[in-house]
Amino acid sequence: MQNARRGYAELEIAFIIIIILSGVYIAYDLLAEPRGSHPFGNWLGIVGTLLMVMTETLYSIRKRTRLLNRAGAVRNWLSFHIVTGLVGPFLVLMHTGLHFRGLAGFTMVMTIVVVVSGFIGRYLYNRRNQMQRFFALWHIVHIPLGLMLFASVAIHIAAAIFFRAGVFR
Ligand code: HEM
Ligand code: HEM
Repeated sequence: MQNARRGYAELEIAFIIIIILSGVYIAYDLLAEPRGSHPFGNWLGIVGTLLMVMTETLYSIRKRTRLLNRAGAVRNWLSFHIVTGLVGPFLVLMHTGLHFRGLAGFTMVMTIVVVVSGFIGRYLYNRRNQMQRFFALWHIVHIPLGLMLFASVAIHIAAAIFFRAGVFR
C-alpha cells in the first residue's frame, strides 16, 4: 500500500511543477510573444533539454553501473527519471511557443511519443513479473525512440546555432 502511494508521489510532484510552469507560461504570453528564438524561450529549451538528457542517462547509469551505487535506491532514481522526464518535455513545449514547424516540430512530436511510451512503460513496470515479455518488448521500442529523439534534437540545435534555424528549424 505504501509502495503504491509512493508510486504516485512522483506523478503528483511533476503535476504540481507543471501547474506552476503553466502559470509562468501565461505570464510570458502576456508580456511577450512566446517563441523558441525569444531569449527566455531559448533558455526554456536549453534547461528542458538538459533535464531530458538527465532523464536519458542518469537512471541507466544508476541501474546498469556501479557509479551511483551510494546515491540511493534504484526505485528512487526511477521516480527522479519520471519527474525530469515530464518536467523537461514540458519546458521544451513552453520553448516552442506552441509552433510546430519543420524538423523542430517533428522533434517535439517525438518527445511527446517518448513521454507517452514512458507512461506505458510505467504501467508495465508495476506489473513486470506478470508481463515480462511485454516489458522486454517495450524496452526494445522505447530505447531506440529515445536515441532517435536526441539525434533529432542535435540537428535542431545545430540548425539554431549555425543557420539561425532556417529550413531545418
Ligand atoms: C527536445 C528539445 C527541443 C525541441 C523539441 C525543440 C523544438 C522547437 C520547436 C517546435 C520550435 C518552433 C519551431 C517553429 O517556429 O515552428 C523551436 C524553435 C527554436 N528552438 Fe528549439 N527545441 C528544442 C531544444 C532547443 C535548444 C536546446 C535550443 C538552443 C540551443 C533550441 C533553439 C531554438 C531556436 C533558436 C528556435 C527558433 C527558431 C525560429 O524561430 O526559426 N531548441 N524549437
Ligand atoms: C524525455 C523523456 C524520457 C526519456 C528520454 C526516457 C528514456 C528512458 C530510457 C533510455 C530508459 C531505459 C533505462 C534502462 O533500462 O537503462 C527508460 C526506462 C524507463 N522509463 Fe523513461 N524516458 C522518458 C520519460 C519517461 C516517463 C515520462 C516515464 C513515466 C511516466 C518513464 C518511465 C520509464 C520506465 C518505467 C522505465 C523502465 C525502468 C526499468 O526497466 O528499470 N520514462 N526511459
